Amino acid sequence: MTRFQKLELSPAYDSHVHLRDGTMMETVIPTIRQGGVDTVYVMPNLVPPITTVAAAVAYRERLQALAPDVKFLMTLYLDKSITPATIAEAARAGIAGVKVYPAGVTTNSEAGVLDYQSYYPVFEAMQEHDLVLNLHGEVPSTSAHDVGTAADGDVVTVLNAEPKFLPTLRKLHADFPRLRIVLEHCTTKEALDAVRACGPTVAGGITAHHLFIDISDVCGDAFNFCKPVAKTPVDRVALLKAIVDESGKFFFGTDSAPHPIEAKKGGKKPAAGCFTQGWATQLVVDAVEEGIANGWLPEDISVETLDEFLSGRGRRFYKLPPASQNGRKIVLDRKGEKIPEALRSKDGSIEVVPFRRGEETYSLTWKS
Ligand code: NCD
Ligand code: ZN
Repeated sequence: MTRFQKLELSPAYDSHVHLRDGTMMETVIPTIRQGGVDTVYVMPNLVPPITTVAAAVAYRERLQALAPDVKFLMTLYLDKSITPATIAEAARAGIAGVKVYPAGVTTNSEAGVLDYQSYYPVFEAMQEHDLVLNLHGEVPSTSAHDVGTAADGDVVTVLNAEPKFLPTLRKLHADFPRLRIVLEHCTTKEALDAVRACGPTVAGGITAHHLFIDISDVCGDAFNFCKPVAKTPVDRVALLKAIVDESGKFFFGTDSAPHPIEAKKGGKKPAAGCFTQGWATQLVVDAVEEGIANGWLPEDISVETLDEFLSGRGRRFYKLPPASQNGRKIVLDRKGEKIPEALRSKDGSIEVVPFRRGEETYSLTWKS
């Protein structure tokens, strides 16, 4: 397999992370820098969700106290309590955006959105205050109760839930052309094409895990199950190619989503989410190497191209200073390191199984 062997990159910007709270937060936080990341955009789907500026600021302080050397960008969870006044307050508090979870499509999304139109005054205020709108781009699946009333072409499952969402993306962009929108964790070629067809205010996030798997890998392995689910091999290759895409519209967001092992394997329906935080950068480089080895990606992918995907584009979209400003670098080296079978909390009460457990990956060190 083609290998970079050793390479030096800018610290990554991870534009989509789930860090949770309490013991899970304390366990996950050290893995941010371990994965080569110095700046993260923190998802608000705690229990209860982060719907007020005060809760977001308090959460940011809890995170910052545990990791003074990481920059945390915060986002609010869109629900009925959020008004244009909340958005003005959020802008003053340095909150970067608002996340939309369609009701019922993923972990802790019960309080999510059903009707986008009713939030238009909020989106208007976001556009004025230059906050980012983060979209979980799926529509809810059709329930068996609706079979009979839904026409065949209208039936939604996890496989077409993302393409079915794309008209909403297009409409929001048409109605709010200056609003910066991120279609999070793109999983389909259709989604990539929809993002490409929008103006420069619309970008797409790409995870590490979707670069490795397709739907066949999800069936039978709860640790590959996340929302949106991985789709076809064609989609997977399209995602890999989007890393080097000339549109410059796609950047990294792991969607690392840790769950205790019991929630993934407890005999119930497994919780959605793949845990990738500690190997965020390493996994992307591994996936790119696999892409080159299979002839999906060009041999001559440069360090600059990797840097753009992992760090540059996302920072520019979020109006952050370039990584070069603090002069730090990360160094990746092949030393036969393997992704562990589990990550445990200090008190042993929580066990999280990482994505690609047991697989070889790069060793990563920080250079200041
Ligand atoms: C996320 C989680 O566990 O919070 N799960 C996931 O499958 N990605 C929620 C989300 O981003 O959809
Ligand atoms: Zn997520």
